[in-house]
Amino acid sequence: MKIATYRELQSKEELLPLFQHAFWWPFNPTVFDRTIRADSRLKDSPVGYAALIDKQVAGFVGVMDIQTRTLHEAEETVGGIWGVVTHPVHARKGIFKALMQRSHDYFREQGYRFSFLYTSKILIAHAFYRKLGYNDTVVYSSAYKTIEDMKNAARKPGKRSKIDWDKLSELYTRVTGNSTGFVIRDKQYRRMLVTRKKIQPAKCIVTDKGYALLRENEGNTYVRELMALTREEINELILHVEEKTAKTVIDEKVVDKDTLSTYQSRGYKIMREGYDVLMSKQLSDATFTETYGHRFHATSVDSF
Ligand SMILES: CC(C)(COP(=O)(O)OP(=O)(O)OC[C@H]1O[C@@H](n2cnc3c(N)ncnc32)[C@H](O)[C@@H]1OP(=O)(O)O)[C@@H](O)C(=O)NCCC(=O)NCCS
Repeated sequence: MKIATYRELQSKEELLPLFQHAFWWPFNPTVFDRTIRADSRLKDSPVGYAALIDKQVAGFVGVMDIQTRTLHEAEETVGGIWGVVTHPVHARKGIFKALMQRSHDYFREQGYRFSFLYTSKILIAHAFYRKLGYNDTVVYSSAYKTIEDMKNAARKPGKRSKIDWDKLSELYTRVTGNSTGFVIRDKQYRRMLVTRKKIQPAKCIVTDKGYALLRENEGNTYVRELMALTREEINELILHVEEKTAKTVIDEKVVDKDTLSTYQSRGYKIMREGYDVLMSKQLSDATFTETYGHRFHATSVDSF
């Protein structure tokens, strides 16, 4: 088995069936090249490592460089792992382990002290990550509500509107002021939200005291980020989201207690610490808690 970086791959198209089956992602190298250039977390990295057997891609592990804020207000770059998959024909031959090892080597070569990844507790991979030294860092609760309001369904979509990105950035900075974690966003981040995270500006809500980044699909609204300065505003935003929704409101990663209890008080079905999990692994002597404390912040749109 040989290991090549994503950038060295001759036939990137071979990743399409792997990504489609594992992540329902119809991978297109040309489109993805644009993402690489636009996403500061990818643009200077090897993008990922592919295992080659007989010159064919047998497995892949993606790598990113992510800016974080630590407890001491310092900016620190860490590693991010994404797109982990092995071709079924080559399962259980140690490909995943070898590619994870190569990724950790890259992070250490860069001087990174931590590696992060998103997974789900129901995936078999969760147990493999633990074996490699990853721990659960943020275990997300999720909230769901069935609306089925015929009036909402009949409502015509509003005129295309633009998000006030400056207002949104200001609110984001105020709400995350005391937090550590994935809270450093550059100017290109907003483009990534629209192109990669499929946020629909016309569907989003921005007020003086908070905002909700939303994605609508077949009458269902996915809350991808909800930030507010007060608890009352959290309630107002959720109410507003419900008024825009025909079928179901889904927030898969509720990031704080106030938002969770507001969903609960509005009759949402809550799945506590159930499905999605952010894991981290120490790559040096520094521990996670002494570096980030207990205020690590990461929302749905930060996932990779
Ligand atoms: C998770 C996945 C990448 C593992 O790939 P792999 O190349 O088969 O893994 P490896 O051969 O390196 O095995 C790693 C460890 O898992 C064990 N393992 C692998 N598949 C297993 C299985 N189906 N049942 C039990 N153990 C298994 C191996 O025995 C090994 O453990 P060991 O260190 O004790 O020997 C692969 O199953 C996959 O592509 N899954 C679907 C996509 C996915 O879930 N990706 C992760 C998203 S976060």
